[in-house]
Amino acid sequence: MINKDTIQNIIETARIEEVVGDYVTLKKRGVNLLGNCPFHNEKTPSFTVSPTKGIFKCFGCGKAGNSVNFLMEHEHLSYPEALRYLAKKYFIDIAEEKETPEQLQMQGEKESLYTVSAYAQKFFSDTLTNTDEGKAIGLSYFKERGFDEKTIEKFQLGYCPEERDGFTKSALSNGHKLEYLVKTGLSISKDNQNYDRFRGRVMFPIHNLSGRVIGFGGRILSSDKTKPKYVNSPESEIYHKSNVLYGIFFAKTAIIAHDNCFLVEGYTDVISMHLSGIENVVASSGTSLTTEQIKLIRRYTPNITILYDGDAAGIKASFRGIDMILEEGMNVKILLFPDGEDPDSYSRKHRPAEVRDFIQNNSSDFISFKTNLLVKETNNDPIKKASLIKEIVETIALIPDAIIRSVYTKECSAIMKLSEQTLINELNKIRNKKATQKSKDIANEQEIPEITEFIDEQQVETDDLKFEQHEKEIIRFMLNYGNSLIDVDAEDEDGERIITKISVAKFIVDDLLKEKELIKIQNPLMQAVFDEYSNQLLNNKIPDLQFFINHSEKLVSQAVIELVSNPYELSENWEKKHRIKVMTEDKEIKKNVFKVIDSYKLKTLDKMIAEIRDKLKVETNEEECVLLQQKHIMFQSIRKKFANKLSRIMTR
Ligand code: UTP
Ligand code: MN
Repeated sequence: MINKDTIQNIIETARIEEVVGDYVTLKKRGVNLLGNCPFHNEKTPSFTVSPTKGIFKCFGCGKAGNSVNFLMEHEHLSYPEALRYLAKKYFIDIAEEKETPEQLQMQGEKESLYTVSAYAQKFFSDTLTNTDEGKAIGLSYFKERGFDEKTIEKFQLGYCPEERDGFTKSALSNGHKLEYLVKTGLSISKDNQNYDRFRGRVMFPIHNLSGRVIGFGGRILSSDKTKPKYVNSPESEIYHKSNVLYGIFFAKTAIIAHDNCFLVEGYTDVISMHLSGIENVVASSGTSLTTEQIKLIRRYTPNITILYDGDAAGIKASFRGIDMILEEGMNVKILLFPDGEDPDSYSRKHRPAEVRDFIQNNSSDFISFKTNLLVKETNNDPIKKASLIKEIVETIALIPDAIIRSVYTKECSAIMKLSEQTLINELNKIRNKKATQKSKDIANEQEIPEITEFIDEQQVETDDLKFEQHEKEIIRFMLNYGNSLIDVDAEDEDGERIITKISVAKFIVDDLLKEKELIKIQNPLMQAVFDEYSNQLLNNKIPDLQFFINHSEKLVSQAVIELVSNPYELSENWEKKHRIKVMTEDKEIKKNVFKVIDSYKLKTLDKMIAEIRDKLKVETNEEECVLLQQKHIMFQSIRKKFANKLSRIMTR
């Protein structure tokens, strides 16, 4: 668990423009930065980052938040994962509070699985480097493979002892529950006996995007052919094989920097590539490539290079993967290693620079790779050739972008010595068939609602503003000017009239609480913000904007961000309408405080008066009617007072 001070430190250190800037190209636009929204497709940028407020907001799709929210949304991280990510980015040491047995008990299931996995990783690493067995068997194996200490540490490699339940015993005695040890697959419980799944294996932890351990692969060291070479963690609530790429955590930054991602087969290939200085590499490890994995890569780059060892069966099997990548609108290149070599073995036999050269100079695009490979098989048999053309055109047809399609069509026609038009005709046939199918599918689906356009509220007159907007306006005012001091009339202890300075926040809170019988904030989120003010004011504290932006209650922080990032604010209308430039002077702030509060009260009264009228229309009991009429008259007169006061303020 990350302690409170550390969380505070992380949030204060994180710069929104840097956090977002790792994923989105931002250009300066006034005091803000502007870029293309990473959460929806757009051509004209409407994604705004405000460094001063520490927030982002997209005026296209409406997504908004602070640094932590951005990471949670964009990287699919949990709250603690996002904090850990930021801590790493800004070199902040995380002060962990070691979970007490009670806290372990309180954790949700998912968090418990993370905790158990983290414990296991530490146990395996510790066994590898600090026990005789670990050093003699595990460490010497890694050294033999050419893994140096730094790499072993970086990838958190480990060793699980031979003893039947060495790990399980240790975990249980440290307060971890057998239930979670079994759910993560680290332990197997059978006939009242516990076994370590990975006993006697070297361990490769699998990390999620934020670097937390979610599973393991364990490689056997003996040459016992009856046992599988690799054993992997089973699926669990934190480990979904089809969504995970081995090495993605260590590769992310390099993938962005090189705008390309290498895809290899397994753990050892990833690590060997790192040893050769190539860090933009991931492995689909264990499963064949999935769409989820491709989408994961696409967050960082549209370019994938698949590295294959030269075995033909494997290459054929890879065709499906290529099609899937193309279908996602990504570019794919292929690199074939010479006979029998894989990235791991190749890099062990060659110097890092040679490996890099080889990779740079030998990758080919998928079309020439696939065509050349298949052409060999046709032996000029016309029937085989025809079916080969169909197969290749089908692959090209998967590419969503028309320009890229036509580039590949040209290339294919050159390799196959076929007229381009023939290919285009074939291509169109396939695409038309698909389009028909697709429109049928769409017709069968429910009507998709239109994306609501951002409504320009500048035209809205203040009087027509909805009741809720007035509430929001009050809260927005407190957020922006809560700390400013204004002069107000007051009475001292002797009943003398004096002028005293008080904060805008205190003034508003006091004023509204004074009439809490009459005025109740309707929007629960605005009420929550208001309550926060009134609570903190009791201790003479005024929460600032950052406090709310980074509020632990996500709905509150979202609502506040929404308020302060909206460019069409009510008071701006006012400012425009009444030619008030910027509220720098106390006098102007004070004037606007009154405006904002009194028009809110006025709106409240209007609402109540309307309610009374509605009741009067249907009330049959005479006594009730009289009471309602009295109330009506009373409210009308209060309203009149307010309206007069307000018009004085407005015209002053
Ligand atoms: P290898 O068979 O080359 O594994 O598979 P290795 O550990 O490098 O063994 P040697 O030293 O060459 O004989 C390459 C990758 O394929 C995955 C692993 O990730 C491994 O790193 N793999 C292999 C499995 O997941 N399961 C297996 O049973 C075999
Ligand atoms: Mn190998």
